Amino acid sequence: MNSFDVVVIGGGPGGYIAAIRAAQLGLTVACIDEARTAEGKPALGGTCTNLGCIPSKALLQSSENFEQASHHFGEHGVRVKGVELDLQAMLGRKDKVVKGSNDGVLYLFRKNKVTFLHGRGSFGKAAGEVVVNGETHTAKNVIIATGSNPRALPDAAFDEKLILSNTGALAIPKVPKKLGVIGAGVIGLEMGSVWRRLGSEVTILEALPAFLGAADEAVAKEAAKVFAKQGLNMELGVQISKVAAGKGVKVDYKGADGAAKTLEVDRLIVSIGRVPNTTGLNAAGVGLKLDERGFIAVDADCRTNLPGVWAIGDVVRGPMLAHKAEEEGVAVAERIAGQKPHVNFNTIPWVIYTSPEIAWVGKTEQQLKSEGVDFRTGMFPFSANARARVLGDTTGLVKFLAHAKTDEILGVHIIGPQASEMIAEAVVAMEFRGSAQDIGMICHAHPSLSEAMKDAALAVNRRALNI
Ligand code: FAD
Ligand code: NAI
Repeated sequence: MNSFDVVVIGGGPGGYIAAIRAAQLGLTVACIDEARTAEGKPALGGTCTNLGCIPSKALLQSSENFEQASHHFGEHGVRVKGVELDLQAMLGRKDKVVKGSNDGVLYLFRKNKVTFLHGRGSFGKAAGEVVVNGETHTAKNVIIATGSNPRALPDAAFDEKLILSNTGALAIPKVPKKLGVIGAGVIGLEMGSVWRRLGSEVTILEALPAFLGAADEAVAKEAAKVFAKQGLNMELGVQISKVAAGKGVKVDYKGADGAAKTLEVDRLIVSIGRVPNTTGLNAAGVGLKLDERGFIAVDADCRTNLPGVWAIGDVVRGPMLAHKAEEEGVAVAERIAGQKPHVNFNTIPWVIYTSPEIAWVGKTEQQLKSEGVDFRTGMFPFSANARARVLGDTTGLVKFLAHAKTDEILGVHIIGPQASEMIAEAVVAMEFRGSAQDIGMICHAHPSLSEAMKDAALAVNRRALNI
């Protein structure tokens, strides 16, 4: 038996970052993670590294390269003949990127003197006891960071061959001729884009009548237009009645007009959200409270109902994003060390890594209207941005929402090239409670995509210089 100041259960972005920060603060720390590679080795980094952010972005990059070489290099006068897809090489590269990240976390644990325990962790007889591989360790503090699992459709369990969660969607061994996707959320759009670029005919079925309801309407409208032009078939307002797997997959559903329809595909990705993972923790045994949706119940500071037990990341309320999990991990470690950190939920950026990318932070126009906030809007299209024209990537726009009286930035919404990188400027400005004028007064390099930020900010006060 060992005693630690902190034991973290789960080595994803929430857990491993919490462990490192706690160790930096001089606490004795162990992190338990059960994930393993096909060879049985530790696969630290959680869903994000193994089956989420990293492999999906690797495939998005590779498939975009394939699409560019196949269809767009000619526009630059670069003639490429006989472009061929080597899917096994593409999947192999993705696995290599993942392995590099797994090893990176192990290295960081060694560097920061975090004890890594490979196995499944669960509470022992009391909340201060954690059992792993049959051994009990005591902990003054336990941080639960056990993440989430994909939600399945009723009566259509994932077999990862025909009915795929993110796990199968990231490793399809042969490009399906027809690919179905249930759910036009983040995974549906990203994985749908990957396989469409590689040659699949992709059809996405979405339950909600509005496309990308969480995004600003201007961005969602532009995105729907662009994705349709790319050939991503999308049907909104559907109700799935039955999914049957045989040679391929048959999906019976009701269309928005109530008509009974059938979609027959070679494989089906089901991406209808994720559920918190508390399996095998012995949560009930120690009296750990879950909320009505199965998340571990926590207060604003990630404290559970048990003294000295904290929970962070996908297993608690809030957006299921790696950087949100990380922020909570750092904050909890600092609270344990007696500091008073704060996580600002209003400045957590969202990114969808499609092409064009979609990114936003803060409120949407719909939200501001429903809250009765007096605001002004500034928009700037990438078609008027010199760098975007140089890149040959002029789709999309930047939209600023600022308070009508104070000019404080309330939300920034981008659809366009490198939106994932550009949104950081808006996050910084909002964190410092900056105004649209602040961004408009800052010198931005020319020619750069970031100039679209400046022009959109200037447009709030009708001062854009390039439109
Ligand atoms: P996880 O990353 O899920 O880690 C939990 C870890 O705990 C796992 O390693 C698991 O094996 C381990 N574990 C669970 N129970 C136990 C136990 N009892 N004992 C020991 N170990 C245990 N987010 C982004 O911000 N950007 C993206 O681009 C992005 N892309 C995504 C793409 C896909 C396809 C998916 C599925 C998700 C994506 N996400 C993305 C979401 C992101 O992966 C999650 O929000 C993030 O991983 C949550 O981190 P976490 O630490 O809470 O949990
Ligand atoms: P999601 O919540 O983004 O989207 C799920 C979609 O499925 C919604 O549009 C929902 O209306 C729809 N849906 C739900 N039930 C349905 C049904 N029965 N029939 C048809 N449609 C249905 O969830 P998703 O895409 O599974 O991703 C899970 C989470 O992972 C995301 O919420 C996000 O937090 C995270 N993620 C983040 C990424 C990023 O940051 N770039 C990338 C991928 C995932």
